[in-house]
Amino acid sequence: MRVAFFQFAPRFGRIGDNLETVLARLEKVEADLIVLPELFSTGYQFVSKRETAELSEEIPSGRTARRLSEWARDRGIWLVAGMAERKGKALYNSALHVGPKGYAGTYRKVHLFDEEKKWFRPGNLGFPVFPVGKVRLGIMICFDWFFPEAARSLALGGAEVIAHPANLVLPYCPDAMVTRCLENRVFAVTANRIGSEKRGGRKRLTYIGQSEIVDPKGRILTRAPGNKEILKIVEIDPMEARKKKLNRFNDLLRDRRVKLYKTGRK
Ligand code: ACM
Repeated sequence: MRVAFFQFAPRFGRIGDNLETVLARLEKVEADLIVLPELFSTGYQFVSKRETAELSEEIPSGRTARRLSEWARDRGIWLVAGMAERKGKALYNSALHVGPKGYAGTYRKVHLFDEEKKWFRPGNLGFPVFPVGKVRLGIMICFDWFFPEAARSLALGGAEVIAHPANLVLPYCPDAMVTRCLENRVFAVTANRIGSEKRGGRKRLTYIGQSEIVDPKGRILTRAPGNKEILKIVEIDPMEARKKKLNRFNDLLRDRRVKLYKTGRK
């Protein structure tokens, strides 16, 4: 399976331009699964609820979802793209999932970061796992990495590959994903953005790039530079992620002692 990320700098508020940038870059790409950054079509640094609402789109009936669904159907390629979703009055920081049959699913970011809590509602779809041919694909978005339960939930749901759209500003995630992959024996494709944004008198956000693909043994198969637009494709064997036995005696998921774990709830 050829998995890929496209790391680039979306232009704030320019949905049409960002969509065209992506479609132009992906035109001749030969891959099975491509992951785009979080909020790829709008940019990240919203400054009001109203602005967020105006730039959010319905999934799957909005322009971006329709265009990417068509593209995926024509090309027979799976794609995961972070975008702002409007559902009735609710706004979500979501990931659109499309493939050879068009629209394939949605994930809504569960762990909202910083001011995102002012614009978006936390995701209410749990951690869904989608069939991608014979492979099972889990999706999480950016800051979800900080909560080991997110990747664990996806692994328990059978995910072999995790698509991870991101707009990382903290420096920790690229190295942390090594542990997320190791402790769950899964692949992860983190697609981060580059560039910076400074809007509405807020502090400048600089995105760290370093998109990467990590394997179930925690090996970094590729990691992008911090500030360069780049599309990277890596061939992986997702069946490697089915090997949860560590040795004769240990199985990664079966050995968990769930009765002894705290949930943090009384
Ligand atoms: C983030 O979750 N975009 C940092």
